[in-house]
Amino acid sequence: MRVLGIETSCDETSAAVIEGTGDLVTQRALVILSQDVHRIFGGVVPEIASRAHLTAIVPVVEQALRDAGSSEIDAVAVTNAPGLVGALLVGVSYAKAYAFARGIPVIGVHHMEGHLFATALEHPDAVPPFTALLVSGGHTLLVDVEAWGQYRLLGRTRDDAAGEAFDKVAKLLGLPYPGGPHIDRLAARSESGDYRFARPMLRRDQQPGDSDFYDFSFSGLKTAVLNAVRSSDLEASRGAIARAFQDALVDTLVEKTARAARQFNRARVVLGGGVACNTSLVRAMRERLSSRGVQVFAPTPRLATDNAAMIARAGLFHLERGERSTLDLNAFASQPLPGLVAA
Ligand code: KG4
Ligand code: ZN
Repeated sequence: MRVLGIETSCDETSAAVIEGTGDLVTQRALVILSQDVHRIFGGVVPEIASRAHLTAIVPVVEQALRDAGSSEIDAVAVTNAPGLVGALLVGVSYAKAYAFARGIPVIGVHHMEGHLFATALEHPDAVPPFTALLVSGGHTLLVDVEAWGQYRLLGRTRDDAAGEAFDKVAKLLGLPYPGGPHIDRLAARSESGDYRFARPMLRRDQQPGDSDFYDFSFSGLKTAVLNAVRSSDLEASRGAIARAFQDALVDTLVEKTARAARQFNRARVVLGGGVACNTSLVRAMRERLSSRGVQVFAPTPRLATDNAAMIARAGLFHLERGERSTLDLNAFASQPLPGLVAA
């Protein structure tokens, strides 16, 4: 089956073509157009994002079909939640019109389920059962994936998402938006020196069943960084603060992911979302888990950040189960992950 994927939930207009069955899937084309315009505002402006998607959607899809070498498509998969509603609507409307005109099925995909599938496009072994850590600009989810379509949500952030914490701390440090990659590079060539921040929501005496055993919280860490910035000479200490912040955040993510892999006896950990590009996170996760025989899979930056290939891949899974959306498919700002099983 050949699936056209479409993703417009935030500030990337993306289209992809994948082909295959089950876990044997080949990516034929992937086009991602990032909207640079938001940089000057220091964050994504929803109305501007929608308008930019509207301009980009047709050429981006046409380019993906050209790159795939054929416009023979069996179905269309499109992100319909969660995200910016105005932005999502551009992709959803286009996908429905395209599918209707061609007489092929359309399937709505949950953006975070897409992130769960992204790594499998590059690593044939990044398939269930596994422990998943999804860390993006809008979400931080720790999920036990028993099988595709069967997700046990273990933990989530109670305030800021991990990527949001990177972006806000970068702003405090006077670094450009989005801040994650800048902090990543700066921290790599800095030592934390006298700075050390408490690991947020992490205590040794936490037990499985405690509500904070798997949950995350990053707003306190952000405040700790703010206090450090206020009481320091920023030019002299920017690198050390960035390093200390990243160390605290990474320690927390690694420890909670290791707990989940241990509790559910998983031999694989799969990372996803933009923060999965963080070199220190990936390294620390591997160091921590390899001694226990757990393999850690991280997608390359192109598939870690928002892209339509992961949406096509998740869509293919649902299409193969016989699921279809109808032409009244709508866009939603938030929606629970489909396939949730009791924790
Ligand atoms: O998944 P994504 O592209 O978009 C959302 O769905 O939100 O994630 C974007 C987030 C931004 O917050 C960005 O700062 C962060 O991913 N990010 C990173 C790195 N690269 C991107 N954070 C830490 N280290 C990186 N290398
Ligand atoms: Zn995303």
